[in-house]
Amino acid sequence: MKPYKSMKESIFNTLNELEVQSTLEKSRMVDTLPENRMLAITKETGELLNMLLRLKNAKNMLEIGTSVGYSSIWCAEAILEQAGKIITIEQNPNKVKRAKENFLKAEIQDAVEIKEGHALDILSKMSCIDEYKEYFDFVLIDADKENIIEYFDLILPMVSVGGIIVTDNMLYPEKYREHMKKFSDYLKENPDLNTITSNIGNGEEITIKVR
Ligand SMILES: C[S@@+](CC[C@H](N)C(=O)[O-])C[C@H]1O[C@@H](n2cnc3c(N)ncnc32)[C@H](O)[C@@H]1O
Repeated sequence: MKPYKSMKESIFNTLNELEVQSTLEKSRMVDTLPENRMLAITKETGELLNMLLRLKNAKNMLEIGTSVGYSSIWCAEAILEQAGKIITIEQNPNKVKRAKENFLKAEIQDAVEIKEGHALDILSKMSCIDEYKEYFDFVLIDADKENIIEYFDLILPMVSVGGIIVTDNMLYPEKYREHMKKFSDYLKENPDLNTITSNIGNGEEITIKVR
């Protein structure tokens, strides 16, 4: 059943298709090369992101880690209400191709721009562009975990005051937990941020840039 009646059929159908694929991959019922796995956020997290974007009336979103586009589609569903845009970063060319196909299927292609390459390179370049200073009102961080603090430091000046930054995988997989706890502690040290770790999905850090 649709989460809400106003959701476009094309978005609903594409999300459903990707949820089936994700379930099959997670239960190892299909053989997928590790580099081609979706590693998507949970449906619950998709609903959370969609709700936060709507509450914020967000217009300009940045995503690190597109994969095949599941989280971007959840977010585009909300951001389209504001005629907003998502810039999303992915380094795996095969996933970029699949994400583009999924955006076409969901009919959200005009709301999403994929930047292909390593997130550190792309964010470093973006952070030098004046237009992006305090530009984004919503960010999702969901790529590799080892560079997470570097990503955050590059992203923060590009976030507007009152902007929201959500980070996935704070609690699961458990192998990341200690590292992600250090990241959360790093955020807590910053007086310009309010942050909480929620146990929704794989554990979502919800951070607001308060000043
Ligand atoms: C957890 S998945 C993203 C899932 C996606 N947000 C979703 O929920 O549908 C992480 C993605 O980040 C990409 N990635 C990992 N390290 C990266 C990097 N340094 N630069 C760009 N993309 C990266 C991976 O190829 C992978 O597709």
